[in-house]
Amino acid sequence: MRFSPPTIREILLLCILFCGLFLIFASRTGPQQLFALPAPPVPARQPYHTQLNAGDIQTKIIAHVPGWSIIDWLYIYKGVVFIVSNEPQNVPNISSIYSKGIEIEVGEEAERARLPDDTDIRIINTTEALALFGSRAQILDGVSYFVNDPPQYVRHYYHGVAELLFGFWRTYSSLDTSIPASGNTTLPSPRRMIFNRLDAFRWRDYALMNQWVVRSSFPELTMEFIDDWDDRAKMGKPFVFERVVLADRSAAMLSLNYQRYQRTAAAAFGLPGSPHWWMTIRNNVVRFAGLDPEEGAGTVGPPVITYISRQEWGRRMLIEADHERLVRELRKLEAAYGWEVNVVLPEKMSRLEQLRLSARTTILLGVHGNGLSNLLWMKPNGRSTVIEFFYPGGFAHDYEYTTRALGMTHYGFWASKSFTSPDLPLPAYPEGFQGNEIPLDGEAVAQLCIQRLTLEEETDEG
Ligand SMILES: *[C@@H]1O[C@H](CO)[C@@H](O)[C@H](O)[C@H]1NC(C)=O
Ligand SMILES: *[C@@H]1O[C@H](CO)[C@@H](O)[C@H](O)[C@H]1NC(C)=O
Ligand SMILES: *[C@@H]1O[C@H](CO)[C@@H](O)[C@H](O)[C@H]1NC(C)=O
Repeated sequence: MRFSPPTIREILLLCILFCGLFLIFASRTGPQQLFALPAPPVPARQPYHTQLNAGDIQTKIIAHVPGWSIIDWLYIYKGVVFIVSNEPQNVPNISSIYSKGIEIEVGEEAERARLPDDTDIRIINTTEALALFGSRAQILDGVSYFVNDPPQYVRHYYHGVAELLFGFWRTYSSLDTSIPASGNTTLPSPRRMIFNRLDAFRWRDYALMNQWVVRSSFPELTMEFIDDWDDRAKMGKPFVFERVVLADRSAAMLSLNYQRYQRTAAAAFGLPGSPHWWMTIRNNVVRFAGLDPEEGAGTVGPPVITYISRQEWGRRMLIEADHERLVRELRKLEAAYGWEVNVVLPEKMSRLEQLRLSARTTILLGVHGNGLSNLLWMKPNGRSTVIEFFYPGGFAHDYEYTTRALGMTHYGFWASKSFTSPDLPLPAYPEGFQGNEIPLDGEAVAQLCIQRLTLEEETDEG
């Protein structure tokens, strides 16, 4: 065979080939691969003002259920929220969008006291808007999350993450119903989170998990608090949200789903959504903790059983002998089947250890309580299960609903009796619910673990 020097055409072809390879390589290692949340598009708008002129200044309700709304061009002016619309009959009842944002107390009178009036939110038409605001409003660009709640609940991991962030993302991700199991989405990530009734210290929880989750899932998110809200209000100038996802606990409580499950995030499940909707957040948090999001639910290694013990917490604990029996039964499974068994006290673990362990867990066990919030980081598949121990007769939907909302299976336990959806008891808090004498049959729990883990292989979709 004889080699001739390359012709111009061959050299050109080679150049094109290398450029192509370079482009493929560059796009593989681009930020898309590193972060599931794509960067928001750079706004083309210059200067950073919007002229108010009839036609394009009207507020648009993009998605809405009680307590959870996605709204374009929502205005704030002197501390009041304004919906600008020439068709007020098409705006949902404002009581299901916004409230007075005061502490939640039980009773009808308290419920009425939380309903908004025109010092909180108003609907005006475009003529009135021009007269009131003048010709300009400052744009708060991109997507903002806006929380109209008092400090009462937010400062608790379960309410901060498993309710507020959970509901926010469920609402917002209704705009991308094709989110795949990788969590990849085209939705721009939120720019800012606004708490108009909270000072900066009050959104953190005692377990310090809220900030871990927020900073790992939305690293670029900035926050505003009551002082910032007051600054804007005192300026006497209108501001307008390009797009806002608005959460209002009191308004969500008006929904049927809240009345059924006592969970504000449940209202958001009235909106369309992907079965993998949560994976965008879950996978980012798990990656931040240093694990491959694929890890989990025993799909990489042997199944992992994690029992979150409250035995040193001092409240809502198992009878000590029953706790010991449960640990013995779980250790037997470890020996007989080679499954990984962890018995942990979350308060003795670092946040990273908690996140990493829950991400790898196939079956999470524990007495009703905050430790079960870690179910949020499990990888949902056909085997992933949460088993929650209650004082017999007691029940709350908190972790039950959350588990099912992620496509996983939940079992409640009353001593040796287990139950699962749809055969659920009504919520109840009998005497003993918060006590330290909760009975449990550890052998029955171990039997259920065997049943769950030796199921016929199901598809990954569960
Ligand atoms: C809006 O909802 C509130 C709270 O449920 C209710 O009291 C009020 O009558 C409703 N207003 C209208 C116009 O339906
Ligand atoms: C807005 O409402 C006022 C009455 O408050 C009315 O005079 C005006 O025509 C309305 N403008 C539009 C655009 O509907
Ligand atoms: C994520 O989605 C974008 C846009 O749809 C696509 O270009 C990219 O390849 C996807 N990445 C992964 C890891 O699926």
